[in-house]
Amino acid sequence: MDFQKRYESYLAIVEKLINEINERFSAAQQKLGDAMKYSVSSGGKRLRPVMFLSALDAFGSKDERFYPLAAAIECIHTYSLVHDDLPAMDNDDMRRGKPSTHKTFGEDYAVITGDALLNFAFEMCFKVVSDCGGSENVVKACSYIAERAGYLGMIGGQAYDIDEENKQNSEEYLLKVDKLKTAELFKAAIVSAGLLCGRYTPALEEFAEKLGVTFQFADDLLDVSGEEKLVGKTLGKDEKYGKVTAISVYGKEKTKELIDGLKERCLELAEQAGLSSDGFYPELIKKLAARTY
Ligand code: IPE
Ligand code: IPE
Ligand code: MG
Ligand code: MG
Ligand code: MG
Repeated sequence: MDFQKRYESYLAIVEKLINEINERFSAAQQKLGDAMKYSVSSGGKRLRPVMFLSALDAFGSKDERFYPLAAAIECIHTYSLVHDDLPAMDNDDMRRGKPSTHKTFGEDYAVITGDALLNFAFEMCFKVVSDCGGSENVVKACSYIAERAGYLGMIGGQAYDIDEENKQNSEEYLLKVDKLKTAELFKAAIVSAGLLCGRYTPALEEFAEKLGVTFQFADDLLDVSGEEKLVGKTLGKDEKYGKVTAISVYGKEKTKELIDGLKERCLELAEQAGLSSDGFYPELIKKLAARTY
């Protein structure tokens, strides 16, 4: 099956899971439920759940009891975007080509929508732990997801990202932020699949981290040279708000070179980690390094 078809087949699984959780969100207080559904259903590449499902495939697992973790990871990612867009954070009015959650439902609802999605993600994790009879691998994978999303992971990265006082336009600061705010959720998606399958290796973790940094560098590049219609969010904001990005640290041309180098290293690491044999990951790495949305 070619890459696009494979991606679509994973997307079909993800959309089915999202439809199922949307039904559950209908039981919430009306506006909260609507805001939860709006946030998780409003498009998006679904990259993290696709990386999770394709890693399971690459590691030879067909166990569908793990699938709700794909939805859990997407809920964590979505909540992080809902909060990231708030006026107190990046103040972004557009997300996934639509008004951000706070623009549609108000800031108060955006805060609790994020809270509810995060909480729901862990309900899903416990469901999988329970469905798998408390298996040690599953407990390890869910703990890993919790840590990567938390104060030492993605949230820690958001803290450095908004820390005006200690902000430095240095490579060291940039890498610290990107490894945390972006790469930690990549690790949650990819390494958790390895843990579920008993296939954890340091190469797998290094791969996920490097791919996350590559992705964030490409995101920074899109902010200065992307097409707003395709990207679906307001562009040109990083410079306007004085953000430390790959562009502010390296400039555009060097950022492109670095993305290329990172891509090569990701290809090697994916191979070492046992992710490459079915061909999906190598293609995904190349696509993400050259992303236009
Ligand atoms: C946006 O992630 C946040 C970053 C880490 C740059 P995505 O670009 O994966 O967002 P969606 O899910 O496709 O909207
Ligand atoms: C995203 O960083 C990291 C998150 C944890 C949300 P950005 O702030 O650069 O993401 P976009 O550009 O708003 O998607
Ligand atoms: Mg941000
Ligand atoms: Mg932002
Ligand atoms: Mg950005």
